[in-house]
Order: sequence, then structure tokens, then C-alpha cells
Amino acid sequence: MTEADIRLGMGLKAQAHWNQTEADWQRFLRLQPDGCFVARCNGQDVGTTTVCMFGSVAWIAMVLVDIEHRHRGIGTRLVQHALDFLNRHRVATVRLDATASGRPVYERLGFVAQYELMRMAGEISDDGVPWLPRPVDLQRIEEMTEGKARVHAIEPMGQRGLDAIERWDRLATRTPRGKLLARLIAESASRGYLTTGPDSTGGYVLSRWGAQAVQLGPAVASDEVCGRVLLDRAAADWAGQRVYLDVPVDNHAAVRWAEDRGLACQRSFVRMVRGQPVSDDLQRLWASSGPETG
Ligand SMILES: CC(C)(COP(=O)(O)OP(=O)(O)OC[C@H]1O[C@@H](n2cnc3c(N)ncnc32)[C@H](O)[C@@H]1OP(=O)(O)O)[C@@H](O)C(=O)NCCC(=O)NCCS
Repeated sequence: MTEADIRLGMGLKAQAHWNQTEADWQRFLRLQPDGCFVARCNGQDVGTTTVCMFGSVAWIAMVLVDIEHRHRGIGTRLVQHALDFLNRHRVATVRLDATASGRPVYERLGFVAQYELMRMAGEISDDGVPWLPRPVDLQRIEEMTEGKARVHAIEPMGQRGLDAIERWDRLATRTPRGKLLARLIAESASRGYLTTGPDSTGGYVLSRWGAQAVQLGPAVASDEVCGRVLLDRAAADWAGQRVYLDVPVDNHAAVRWAEDRGLACQRSFVRMVRGQPVSDDLQRLWASSGPETG
């Protein structure tokens, strides 16, 4: 796949009602120029997939087949092609977030389910000053800190913060995702914040425009206070906008934040792995970057 194929990718993702933009496709090509592929059938371009390697861990994404060409084995061939590429690079772990229609294809190729993520969706209300803790937060923060409410200074993200967020990110994902984080920060359309509190608490959040909704994430936080403060700050930038937040179902604190902000589950994904498993710290993982890179 090259930049000239982004039109094809945009057409296929529109058929599937996905949220990616041209900027997302450009990022996939930048992150792994030799690992993005197009399927051609009788001279017609009919499918895509992208791969992104982070050391010994790789992600497969954007497995899309034109509606008219499904159920002929093209999706399976695409994923097999990506796996052959990753085998040549001796990658130990391959991961992906599967939709319901993708899951059987991946299972046949040896992927196993790890855990479920919910896509929480809704409009961020623009009442009040949303990045200041609201009564519900103040009460929760009081409860959680037994009256000793901690103050978190939140800084806007710049390349200067990259080392800190890479460290936070690795604690949550156990994957060296520096090149993804650097790229997201560099993209003018994405916005980010980080916080470093007392007692090694802290975290970060990034967000960016999508075709249907703003993608809030990736977000990593050491505890519930940190997570709520960070996500409130990020949400404040998008007041009045529709947002998506892809949350591990088992991160109850993150799900609570989303529900308190009026977001509701729109769909779910199953995170799958092939090869050596990598276990995310789900209590730290407040939002994935989207289904493409975990
Ligand atoms: C998921 C998706 C990529 C699968 O693509 P595909 O080309 O239809 O995949 P395949 O043809 O390899 O396999 C799909 C089914 O067709 C069957 N099939 C494959 N070749 C076949 C053939 N020649 N005749 C009849 N059936 C066939 C497979 O056994 C499989 O059946 P199952 O799902 O009941 O197990 C496609 O449905 C799609 O683009 N969906 C929207 C986007 C999406 O959800 N992508 C996955 C992201 S995780």
C-alpha cells in the first residue's frame, strides 16, 4: 500500500462505518511503510491491511474487504500475508482488536481472545467549566483519598513530555510504543496532556479528530483520581463534540468516568493475541489509541 491507495482505504472504511480519517491512514504508512498491503482480485483493488511493529510486538489492523468481494477467502489471505511479513521479521507477539465479523477469521489463523473492550460513545456536554472537578468528582476524590484530596498539575503535551509518557505507556501496555506516541504528538490535530502527581502517580491522554467522532485516547493513568482529572481535561477540549473512548471492560474506574459523562456502550471489540502473550495492566489502561495499535 502507498499514499495513492489511501482513497481505496477511505472507501473501504466508509463501507464498514469506521472512524478513521486520511490522517490515520497516513500515520499507518509512516509507522510501517513496508507493512501495509492491498489485496487485488482480477485487477481490482478490493482489500487492505496494515501492520505496525513495536520491537517484538506487532499490531495488525485495517483488515477491510469490499462488500461485494467478501466470503471468498480474501480477508484470510490478507491476514496470512501480514503474518508472513511478521514471521520474516521474527516478531514474537501479534495482537489485534477484532470485530464480530473478523473474529472467526483470526481464530482460524491461531489468534486467541484476551479481553473485551467497549466503545463508549456520546456527546461531551459543554456546561460549566468541565476541566474543574464537578461535585461528583469532588465527592469521589474525597472518598478515594480519605479526605486528603491530591492536587494534580496538568500540563499540555509537547515532544518534551515524550519520555514521561513513554514510561507511563509501557507500564500499561508492556510495549515500546514510542514511535506511535511521538507521531500522535507531532500531528497538529491531536491534543495531549500529562500529569505527574505525588507518590509516583501520573499518566497521560491524547485525542484526535475522527470521521464520526473524536477519538479520546490513548490514555494511561496510575489511579482513578489521575484518570478522571486527565480525561476531564481532554474532554473539555471537545465540548459539544461526539467522542469515542475504547475502554477495557475490566477497568471499572474508566467505565464509571465514561458513564458519569453520559457516554454509552456503542459496540465492543475483542483483543486477541497470537504467539507470546503480552498482558496489559488493565487498571492503568484507561483508553486504547483505537483498534489499530492498542
Ligand atoms: C472481516 C472481513 C475482513 C472478512 O473478509 P472476507 O474476505 O469475507 O474473509 P474470508 O472470506 O477469508 O472469511 C469470511 C468467511 O467466508 C468463508 N469463506 C472463505 N472462502 C470462501 C469461499 N470460497 N466460499 C464460501 N465461503 C468462503 C470463510 O470460511 C469465513 O466464514 P466464517 O466467517 O463463517 O468463518 C470482512 O467481512 C470485512 O471487511 N468486514 C468489515 C470490516 C471488519 O470488521 N474487519 C475486521 C476487523 S477486525
